[in-house]
Amino acid sequence: MPRIAYVNGRYLPGTEAGVSIEDRGFQFADGVYEVCEVRGGRLVDEGRHMARLDRSLSELRIARPMSAAALGTVLRETVRRNRVRDGIVYVQITRGVARRDFPFPPAGTRPTVVVTARNNDIARIEQMAAEGVAVVSVPDIRWGRVDIKTVGLLPNVLAKQTAREQGAREAWLVDAKGCVTEGASSNAWIVSADGTLVTRPLGPDILPGITRAVAIETAKALGLAFAERPFTLEEAYGAREAFMTSASQIVMPVTRIDGRPIGGGRPGPTAKALRRAYHQQAEIS
Ligand code: PDD
Repeated sequence: MPRIAYVNGRYLPGTEAGVSIEDRGFQFADGVYEVCEVRGGRLVDEGRHMARLDRSLSELRIARPMSAAALGTVLRETVRRNRVRDGIVYVQITRGVARRDFPFPPAGTRPTVVVTARNNDIARIEQMAAEGVAVVSVPDIRWGRVDIKTVGLLPNVLAKQTAREQGAREAWLVDAKGCVTEGASSNAWIVSADGTLVTRPLGPDILPGITRAVAIETAKALGLAFAERPFTLEEAYGAREAFMTSASQIVMPVTRIDGRPIGGGRPGPTAKALRRAYHQQAEIS
């Protein structure tokens, strides 16, 4: 339970914070969210996260409840009140509270805004990055617009639970053609057998990860051979390296897919280099 949560204009103790049972986020998963890394008490790539949030809101035609500047103030204040140094800040905006009815509620219904923040166990994440983590593959059964960061995450929840039950950190989702789309809460990458860094191109079938975008810039700055193209699970099994990216774990080496060792079962040089260089490329404010 976070110590302090922002809910619609008020900072409340976690035990007192809540939203209505008729909130459309609760009833229909009719809402969007963002997760932004906090590092040394500061926000990483806030501008890009706010731009993606705006895009998610406009794709769902939810009115933006406050300016990016005002929301930035709330994010920082929530981080400060929760004494977060290294962790994440979470913002969720739903279409608001209304009598349960599928079409949009009456014009003027105010969106619900919730912000929380928490520290991460950095030592544990660093240890995982040093050792590499396991992933398992599962069919991608999500809807057709997963480029919108909605709170409708049930397939991701089920995939993650499958991973957990098999002793893996993440699930890689596989489409009907046998290609990896992305992770349940991360983007997926390989270094192919010929040494090219590969990640799936943007489209309606993956989330446009902010960490993915910054990692691409980092790879270019490092002069790495890079290609945006789909890759199959079979290709991943034979890859030199595999890794995943997300705001909470940045670049995380994958050393096992479905029990098969990747790159000799040790984190590879590309993932390590990207992880090291990442925060020089990111905007920290
Ligand atoms: N997850 N793909 C999915 C399905 C995700 O849920 C996430 C992020 C990513 C990576 O996006 P980014 O680099 O912008 O964090 C890709 C967040 C961390 C979460 O749901 O907790």
